[in-house]
Amino acid sequence: MGELARTERLTRRYVMGENVVTALESLTLSLEEREFTAVVGRSGSGKSTLLHLLGGLDRPTSGDVVVAGKRLAELADDDLALYRRSGVGFIFQFFNLVPTLSALQNVEFPLVLAGVPAPERRRRAGELLEKVGLSGRRDHRPSELSGGEQQRVAVARALANDPPLLLADEPTGNLDSKTAAEILALLRGLEGKTVVMVTHDRDLARDFARRTIEFRDGQVLSDERR
Ligand SMILES: Nc1ncnc2c1ncn2[C@@H]1O[C@H](COP(=O)(O)OP(=O)(O)OP(=O)(O)O)[C@@H](O)[C@H]1O
Ligand SMILES: [Mg+2]
Repeated sequence: MGELARTERLTRRYVMGENVVTALESLTLSLEEREFTAVVGRSGSGKSTLLHLLGGLDRPTSGDVVVAGKRLAELADDDLALYRRSGVGFIFQFFNLVPTLSALQNVEFPLVLAGVPAPERRRRAGELLEKVGLSGRRDHRPSELSGGEQQRVAVARALANDPPLLLADEPTGNLDSKTAAEILALLRGLEGKTVVMVTHDRDLARDFARRTIEFRDGQVLSDERR
């Protein structure tokens, strides 16, 4: 397996008046193509900060993120926006679906932004819903779906532009343990995808991820592969 992404002395500080919070401190790590990595660590250790920087949602104070050869720190805002749309997929704890749109339309949404014509969009969204086991729920709005089903829609949406990298921040934090395991089995089974998942649940990390990185105070405390 080759490298898909890496961080180089990645540092993110927040200046709050007189105080400086160092969320990530000179973090250097490499993410392998197609590997499922879990990031654990106590609250405030920098897990979400890392995902935001990997996903181009935020810019580092110093250091860089390199994804598929692209140096994110060197990208202009427009190019970073393009990277967010097509280079990476996000999955969140509270699903973040658009409540007024159907399951199918939620999955189509990133394809609308990417300018994919309507028939092609619908076809791809339909296929993705099938892939996550939800073809029977296309026309349901988020409020007409269970939590697990909403997260499946969110996974399908994250896959819409076929990005190599999926970033999931506590994707099972709002689900019961059986449903959580189903969602992680789905994520683990995605062929060709590199997945980085933040979780508080070490048992789930152990059961599903090949690699577990533990953060403490913005640095790597341990990094283990199975
Ligand atoms: N926008 C911000 N402004 C100021 N400080 C921030 C901001 N975002 C995060 N921080 C600080 O950076 C540190 C790391 O935050 P981060 O959200 O990455 O932690 P986390 O590991 O995801 O925690 P949790 O498990 O609670 O989600 C924390 O001390 C937090 O208070
Ligand atoms: Mg967090």
